[in-house]
Amino acid sequence: MYKAYEIAPDIYWVGALEWNERYIHGFSKHKGSSNNAYIIVDDCITLIDTCIGSMEQELLERIADVVDPKEIKYIISNHSEKDHAGSIGDVFSIVPNAEIITSSPKGLEILKRYYGEDHDFHPVKTGDTLNIGKRTLTFVQTPFVHWPDNMVTYSEYDKILFSNDAFGQFVATSKRFDDEVDINEIYHLAKKYYANIVSPFAKQTMKAIDAIEPLDIKLIAPSHGVIWRSHIDDIIGLYRKWCSNEPTDSAVVAYSSMYGSTERIAETITEAFMRKGVTVRLYDLDISDISDIMTDVLDAKYLALGCPTHNGTVLPYMGEFLTYLKGLAPKGRCGIVFGSYGWKADSITEMVSVLEKAGYELPLEPFAFNWDVNDSDEERVFDAVTDLIDTRL
Ligand code: FEO
Repeated sequence: MYKAYEIAPDIYWVGALEWNERYIHGFSKHKGSSNNAYIIVDDCITLIDTCIGSMEQELLERIADVVDPKEIKYIISNHSEKDHAGSIGDVFSIVPNAEIITSSPKGLEILKRYYGEDHDFHPVKTGDTLNIGKRTLTFVQTPFVHWPDNMVTYSEYDKILFSNDAFGQFVATSKRFDDEVDINEIYHLAKKYYANIVSPFAKQTMKAIDAIEPLDIKLIAPSHGVIWRSHIDDIIGLYRKWCSNEPTDSAVVAYSSMYGSTERIAETITEAFMRKGVTVRLYDLDISDISDIMTDVLDAKYLALGCPTHNGTVLPYMGEFLTYLKGLAPKGRCGIVFGSYGWKADSITEMVSVLEKAGYELPLEPFAFNWDVNDSDEERVFDAVTDLIDTRL
């Protein structure tokens, strides 16, 4: 039995809680997730977004807690990714004549691919409005936050921005608002979400923030996680900071090692950062989560990657990390490469190539160690890294 939760007069959260969801396309959800949907009870019953296809029963039961789902007149699809649009077909099966509002042209194109042409689609652009009774909803397109179809919906009557993925966090909670939970944990989860999903589109996201910030907003209701009520300025400020792509004085050292030589150098580099007062995190890729690491990489001025050569390439966990890094590619940072090898330093070549393509500057010659490392190798690396930090202060 699922219930609806009122978040403002006549507006209800009717989403699906993924308490035990742990991964989606390589992104770890240690705290679960939620697909938020909202229903506005006005002259025209309006559903904002749905949820992933496998959780439609939860969505429909929550809706039925406040209105008969057959009474839904409008479905607003702010974003066509299947965690929000995956249950539109289940709503259609109850109200086949519901009118669907989606962004033009991409939202329309995607939803037609999912559900066919035979529905009452209404494509909208920025500034278009929809009167549903007391309320007039306004649409603002926010392309590439993080798909080309994204848009947000604003209710001036309630001063609520339905922001979809923007400002979301992967977390399942029994509370709906930011001031009812540990806010520092929520900030961290919002940063992890931004780093792993939104960050490749920082410029577009900054434009979206410019477009929505003049609105008088009392609630930001995202499609994942808690609703922003008491920390709206803070989360918008954090998004501006993350979008600005300004690194902090911090470093990430990530490595995979076979017999300890590469690990020894990873620890040496970590000590060099510590000696110079740079905040540093050391990650053994064999036992660490790549989306957690990327949360630190987001604003790290330095990224040091270490791996020995194995079968003419990098070890599997480094390969996985490089694949992830290629896609997210934070720009304007400083990279350091190191690793041991036997007869050919292919791992070094591969790490250098990925970092360069991702936009990293590599001011130091890679540290490649034949067969093993010794004390003088450690001293050379320590001195080179501390000298580098001195030049970047
Ligand atoms: Fe939460 Fe881009 O979907």
